[in-house]
Amino acid sequence: MNSQIASSQVSPEGHLLIGGVDSVALAKKYGTPLIVYDVGQIRQQIRKFKQVFEEEKTSYAVSYASKAFATIAMYQVAAEEGAYTDVVSAGELYTALKASFPMERVSFHGNNKSRAELEMAVKNHVGKIIIDNFYEIKLLKEVLQENDSHIKVMLRLTPGISAHTHEYDQTGQIDSKFGFDLNSGQAAKALQEVLAEPRMDMVGIHAHIGSQIFELNGFEMAAQKLMQIASSWREKYGYTAKIINVGGGFGIKYVSSDHPLKPEAFVKAIVETIKQEAAKNDYPLPEIDIEPGRSIVGPAGYNLYQVGSRKDVPGLKPYVTVDGGMGDNIRPALYQAEYETVLANNLKAKEEEHVRIAGKYCESGDLLSADAFLPKTKPGDILAMLDTGAYGYSMASNYNRNPRPAVVFAENGHAQVVVKRESLEDLVRLDQSYQED
Ligand code: LLP
Repeated sequence: MNSQIASSQVSPEGHLLIGGVDSVALAKKYGTPLIVYDVGQIRQQIRKFKQVFEEEKTSYAVSYASKAFATIAMYQVAAEEGAYTDVVSAGELYTALKASFPMERVSFHGNNKSRAELEMAVKNHVGKIIIDNFYEIKLLKEVLQENDSHIKVMLRLTPGISAHTHEYDQTGQIDSKFGFDLNSGQAAKALQEVLAEPRMDMVGIHAHIGSQIFELNGFEMAAQKLMQIASSWREKYGYTAKIINVGGGFGIKYVSSDHPLKPEAFVKAIVETIKQEAAKNDYPLPEIDIEPGRSIVGPAGYNLYQVGSRKDVPGLKPYVTVDGGMGDNIRPALYQAEYETVLANNLKAKEEEHVRIAGKYCESGDLLSADAFLPKTKPGDILAMLDTGAYGYSMASNYNRNPRPAVVFAENGHAQVVVKRESLEDLVRLDQSYQED
């Protein structure tokens, strides 16, 4: 049996249990493709992060990077667990508002926030705006004046650290579209502009070095660099950062060849580095914020598919086709991401063949898995892809006019639909017929 499945997740008849609920029954009841989250696991990960900070006795915020999976139910769970959240668009902010997420715990990120987005953030009193560029300083200043308002801000910096990860997932290096560059003096100039603006309360600095990172050392370097900048700004400008935010990016295990550290280990290393740097420079220990997305929701998510057609070509790995694909999980096609897959309706069956799992989209690149080791499957079987909870549903599309799947939350043996499956009618809801004059 796949080593990523715990024995407690196997029902007596050999079905996969998610949050104590039979996944095969869920597939039958709600149809496939279906996205299911083990909510207990989401809660547990948030709690583990918080526990590290509690043990280290530092002030902190665990801010869920909601781009990984942004739905009303998810914001509700994050709020219940005392997490903060970061949003990157009016749409994410709107969803958080609908979930009654406490606005003072929201940070607004983005490298091209529009005036309307900044207005929405200011009017709803979000906790912090993470300023990315000079244009934004100007826009935000205008919006604050027009609304006679004040807001807490942080500056996003590019610390010049390249994380060892997929090219698209790197953000901390100097040649990046995000944040203020340090070496050229841009960051110091931004600081002065913001400090000169009485409507902005400059609470600290931020950096995010990338995503799906396995090594501690990039985070330690980033934490160290941020503290060095903070100290130099204290000396030069008399400015003391109250918050150091080191972003997210903690890597998770997708396949058996991945060996990440526990996400909490990254946090411990970050906190210790910041403490050391603070002691060395006689700097008041700042609040330490992190922004994990993937590590909170990734391992908790499962995509369920039903097996349909099959293609066998002598000498080649067979194609087993399922009823979903790149529309519900673009990551394999976009990043060559790999996942483990299991036969959810018979976990006890012995794996006996290597197959490719093909999606149903009209594109040769629509392969959900280039190599899955599975028992012999037949049409109607239910496959579960594991650890799909981050950036799957949030990057879903209607390509080929396929409706997006439903999302179910399962916890303590109960399941509930938290996002309905799109209907065919939903697919044309914005279409207007064309009438020639
Ligand atoms: N903070 C900032 C400023 C970010 O840009 C991101 C992710 C995070 C936090 C959360 O990173 P995480 O802990 O989830 O790694 N679509 C890609 C990932 C893009 C990440 C974008 N930024 C994927 O599917 O791998």
